[in-house]
Amino acid sequence: MKKICLMYPDVIGVIKPEIYGHFTEHIGGVFYDGLWVGKDSPIANIHGFRKELINRFNKINPPVVRWPGGCYSETYDWRDGIGENRPRRINWWTAYDNRYETNEVGTHEFAEFCSLVGAKPYFAVNLSSLPPLEARKWMDYCLSPQGTTSLACEREKNGHAEPFSIPYWGVGNENWGGGGNMAPDIYAHEYRKYSELMSNVASEAKLFACGPNGDDYNWTQKFMEVFSASEKHMAGYSMHYYCGSAGDPVRFTRKEWYEMLRRSARIEEILLRHWHIIQGYGMEQYGRLVIDEWGCWHPNGSGPSKGRNLFEQQSTMRDAMVTAQTLNVFNNHCDKIQMANVAQLVNNLHCLFLTSGDHCIVTPTYHVFDMYQVHQNAAAVRTLTYGDQQIEGINTLSVSASVKEGFTFISIANLSAEDDAVVELEPVGGSLDADAEMDVLVHEDYHAHNTFENPKVVTPFKQAVNVHQAIIVPRAGIVMIKAKLTKSNDSMYP
Ligand code: AHR
Repeated sequence: MKKICLMYPDVIGVIKPEIYGHFTEHIGGVFYDGLWVGKDSPIANIHGFRKELINRFNKINPPVVRWPGGCYSETYDWRDGIGENRPRRINWWTAYDNRYETNEVGTHEFAEFCSLVGAKPYFAVNLSSLPPLEARKWMDYCLSPQGTTSLACEREKNGHAEPFSIPYWGVGNENWGGGGNMAPDIYAHEYRKYSELMSNVASEAKLFACGPNGDDYNWTQKFMEVFSASEKHMAGYSMHYYCGSAGDPVRFTRKEWYEMLRRSARIEEILLRHWHIIQGYGMEQYGRLVIDEWGCWHPNGSGPSKGRNLFEQQSTMRDAMVTAQTLNVFNNHCDKIQMANVAQLVNNLHCLFLTSGDHCIVTPTYHVFDMYQVHQNAAAVRTLTYGDQQIEGINTLSVSASVKEGFTFISIANLSAEDDAVVELEPVGGSLDADAEMDVLVHEDYHAHNTFENPKVVTPFKQAVNVHQAIIVPRAGIVMIKAKLTKSNDSMYP
């Protein structure tokens, strides 16, 4: 028997909804034939956006969506995406898939998409191929009050009199790579320049700096060294962690199941090490982490478009397990992380939706986001796990817990490919009503995935549980328990 101690009321912090954020880039099939079908399309749409996707996306409460890239943002000119007669351009990815950018979706359309799904936009600014004045002008165009500037008037002429609400601005993307191939100290100086010029356009706009690629601690060290000596126009520090792939995305072996989960578990060590470097420079109030790209990166071609949509991949129960494991880590470190954006929303890496023509289905990863949305705005509570075993070098239980409005939410992922986990819950510093609800996501075959022909192969179900007795978390399964919390210190929780 394994035991999970729920350490009420040891609150780690409040889980910001933005930790459950998303990312949409102009790449492959994310926009065109994904989110965007066009206003005149026979496919049901709302102002050009695929209606079914909007409805289903809404249900998981998306708090924030990052746009327009990714690498794409580093050759993007925001002026191409406003007004009439938009230009057709090569985009960052054209060399990889021969697709040209029509700019049908620009600032106005994307802001509208966000308002349709109730999310805040997070814009990524081009730092490597446009001067800082352009970043400032884009902010002016978006954020200046009606009638105050020529750009605000241009925005009004283009159909939006009121300023857009765009609270987050990323200053560059992957500037160690596609975004200018810079050394960290060079980027730090660039960031100082850009952020200085962007910082006083609108007081509410938060600027995020570009952080490292995964475990590149040298980047954080060198960036902080230069940046910490400057004016602190920074409200967050971004990092990317793709855990790669292990074997075929759909027909992986048992060993590759564990290898994938071992790679994904590394995100905890990586974010902690960056965080401690940030703290070492006394920069924690400026540098709370923004993990604005994360997920698996499988080889091209396993998705329904069979490689036509660049980076499109099929998503199995293994990807769902990576999602649960990662979100548990984020909950458990919500005092260090202010936002995270899974890459990407549709027809791409680690996606929640697959679409083509009339088809629009959700992946197992979507279901994990759906089950976990209860954690948004809840207080994360520390947990301790006893009696867990290691298989192939990884712990088999991944756990996080939170409390909100008198209820506790306990998410448990059983990474074992072989054995169900028999788990006893011990509430320390509180007690739980016996009768509880449990959502379960599992399939007898952990390669299971949804397809256009069979869209409901992996679907969660509900089950009543008695949390005073042992709970079975099925092998390769994910559960979310909702129980009433009594006799704990209410003043500690939202
Ligand atoms: O998500 C695909 C690409 O991965 C993004 O454009 C880039 O930022 C990252 O390397």
